[in-house]
Order: sequence, then structure tokens, then C-alpha cells
Amino acid sequence: MTLSLNSTLKLPNGIILKNRIAKSAMSENMASKNHCANSRFATLYRRWANGGAGLLISGNIMIDSRYLGEPNNIVLEKGRSNEAIREWTRAGTENGTHLWAQLNHPGKQSPKFLSKEPVAPSAIALKAPLDRMFNTPRELTNEEIEEIIERFATAAKLAKDLGFTGVQIHGAHGYLVSQFLSPHHNRRSDKWGGSLENRMRFVVSIYKAIRDAVGLEFPIAIKINSADFQKGGFSQEDSMEVVKVLSELGMDLIEISGGSYESQEMMGTTKKESTRKREAYFADYCEQVRKIVKTPIMLTGGFRSLKGMNEALEQEACDLVGLGRSLVLNPEFPNQLMAGEDVKSEVHFLTTGWKIMDNIFPLEITWYTQQIHRMGKGLDPKPKMSVKASVLYTLISMGVDGLKRVRG
Ligand SMILES: Cc1cc2nc3c(=O)[nH]c(=O)nc-3n(C[C@H](O)[C@H](O)[C@H](O)COP(=O)(O)O)c2cc1C
Repeated sequence: MTLSLNSTLKLPNGIILKNRIAKSAMSENMASKNHCANSRFATLYRRWANGGAGLLISGNIMIDSRYLGEPNNIVLEKGRSNEAIREWTRAGTENGTHLWAQLNHPGKQSPKFLSKEPVAPSAIALKAPLDRMFNTPRELTNEEIEEIIERFATAAKLAKDLGFTGVQIHGAHGYLVSQFLSPHHNRRSDKWGGSLENRMRFVVSIYKAIRDAVGLEFPIAIKINSADFQKGGFSQEDSMEVVKVLSELGMDLIEISGGSYESQEMMGTTKKESTRKREAYFADYCEQVRKIVKTPIMLTGGFRSLKGMNEALEQEACDLVGLGRSLVLNPEFPNQLMAGEDVKSEVHFLTTGWKIMDNIFPLEITWYTQQIHRMGKGLDPKPKMSVKASVLYTLISMGVDGLKRVRG
């Protein structure tokens, strides 16, 4: 059967997504004081919901206000009321759209100006030059690990009660869950480290705790790396094993990405040969995974054209096409693609024109975040927005902290 972007997707728990396009998580970094939502979230997500994607995944939401990835993250935790989220979830589920909350703990990827002492499976610092922007983490105790697992479950239950229609565990891009999976970052000798079975105990426990909290019918997804592209790190073979286990446990959707702050494959900026051959960066890996698990697979990173998306679906590399930056520059993209319009993504190479600046500044994040903020204010995105002006704006609005890598 030839699948098109328009065909529905039935998840293992019976939930149906209305088409094969999903907006991948992109941190909004737009919360109000106290890490609460505001009406800009509703404005932004209403636009995306009406743009046609079947599934919208929120930017990463923190499960612990003591450990943030960015200053203006939304936080879901016990004792913190975040009722304003209801307006957001109502708007984001318009038009028969699913809106899922991405839940995250940054671990060591919490910058110095946010965490004096970040936590991680082991006290291993990020490599240079990132070690200048992120403090060396402290090793988590067993009790703290158990508490974090509970926090993921609490945040998922809160997300469900506030109107999200599913949750996604952020297990990719070098954050805490992927730190546990990586033999480079996880050097523990207790039940949380060593063998792959031990390294995956953290994510398996999080999945089970969330499932207990939200029930069988509520979708739980994970975003996981195909690999973290680091010597001695999480390999493709490890990744396949983890995906197999999570699939057997009942995960409803598995999104594939790759990389971390230390090696930014997820943004396609490293241009490795393995990620250049096909439009989507991780298509080859996905194709292999698709053969070993029944769980629907979402592939994110690099999709730019109708042809590229159709090919990935037809060649059974994935079941769901994940789009990030393209939906920031053109929120109507899904409707246009499904109408068969000859439309291409407007994502383009960003440069300040100064090589040194390009190397040290997290351009892809700050430039797109400013576009997201425009949409939150009800304005149109501005694909031709000056990169230099955007850098200047970031520096002025965040001061020296603007130079610190805020995410990926
Ligand atoms: C501004 C911005 C913020 C992002 N924030 C997140 C995030 O919170 N969680 C996440 O899993 N990925 C995040 N990403 C990565 C995207 O989900 C996606 O994997 C990446 O942009 C590649 O897809 P694309 O080529 O379609 O843009 C972010 C990307 C951008 C540009």
C-alpha cells in the first residue's frame, strides 16, 4: 500500500492521528514569571493546529524547577499551579489535532547561569569549549534517581489533567535520559550503570512510572537518539536494543533523532557523510529500526520537500514525518503539502558572515526562537530576518548569557 501524508495513523493504543505530519518539539523559552504558560502559547499553537499537522509536540517542559535547560522553560511539578496551560491545550487541539507535552530533565546540559551544580549519572564534564558554559555535574544518589522518576510521572499526570492528549519523554540530544544511556556519560557501577540493561533501567523505569500514572489509553512517546555520535558513547546497536525493549513494553510512538550539545547532528550542521545521503538525516537508521519493531516510528531532522517525505513513507523508513524549523518559517506547510502544492521548506543556511561568531553562537536556536516569539505575539514569521540583527538582539536581551548555548 502506498502511504501518503494524508493517511491516518493508528497508534498501538487505538488512538488515531489524522495524518502523517508531526511538529517536533521546539523549546518556546517563552514562559511567564514562575515558569507558567501565558496567552502567547495559545496564539502560537492555534496557528500550528490550523496549519494542518496531525500531531504537535510541545517544546521541552521541565519536571523540576531547580534544573532548567533555559531560563523561560515551562515547569510541571507538584505544588505548582499552571492552570494557564489549559488555554494553550485548548488552542493546540483545535482542528482535531493532538498536542503532546515533551517532558525533560536537562541533567548536565543546564548552563552555568541556571545551575551552579547540575546533576548527572556521573561527574563527567561536557567537553571543551562547552565546559566553560556548563559546570561539572555532581553524581546523582540512588534516592535522587528514584525521585526524578517519580517527577516524570507526576509531570505526565499533570499534563494529562491540563488537557495535553499525550506525553513524550525527551530521551535524546544529550539530556539526562540520554546521559544515562551513554557509556561515556554514565560510569556508574550500581544498578543504573555498566551493562546496557542497567543503563536503560532509568528510561524503562520512567516509562513504567508514567504508564502507571496516566493509564493504558493515554499515548506515551519517546524521542531517542539513533546514536549520540560521540567516541565511546551511545551507539546505533545500543539504540536499537533500547528501542526494542521500549516497544515491547508498550511505548506508543518512537521518534528518532541524534546528537547532543557536544555533537549537533539533530540540526544537520555537522554534515557527516552518513547524514547527507538522504533528505532526512537519520533515515538509514530508521529503516533498520522499522524492520525490528511494530511501534510507529517518527523521523525528525532534515525533511524539506514533499518528495523527500513521501519517499521516507513509501520506503517504510518511518510512519510519521517530523518537522521542526520548516513549521517555524511556514506554519501552513502541512496543509500545503497535503494539498499537493509545489511548496518547499524555507529553511536555509544561517550565517552572520563571521566564521568565529558562527562557531560560538547557537544561531539555529536563537534565530528560530525569535521567530517562534513573533508567532506567539500573533505576527508572521520572517524568513528573511537578518541573522546579524538577531544575534545583536539576543546579546542585548540576554547580556553575556546570550553567548551561552541555550539548547539544541
Ligand atoms: C528553536 C529550536 C528549539 C528546539 N527545541 C527542542 C526541544 O525542546 N526538544 C527537542 O526534542 N528538540 C528540540 N529541537 C530540535 C527539533 O525538534 C528537531 O529535532 C530539529 O530542529 C531537526 O528538525 P528540522 O530539520 O525539521 O528542523 C529544537 C530545534 C529548534 C530549531
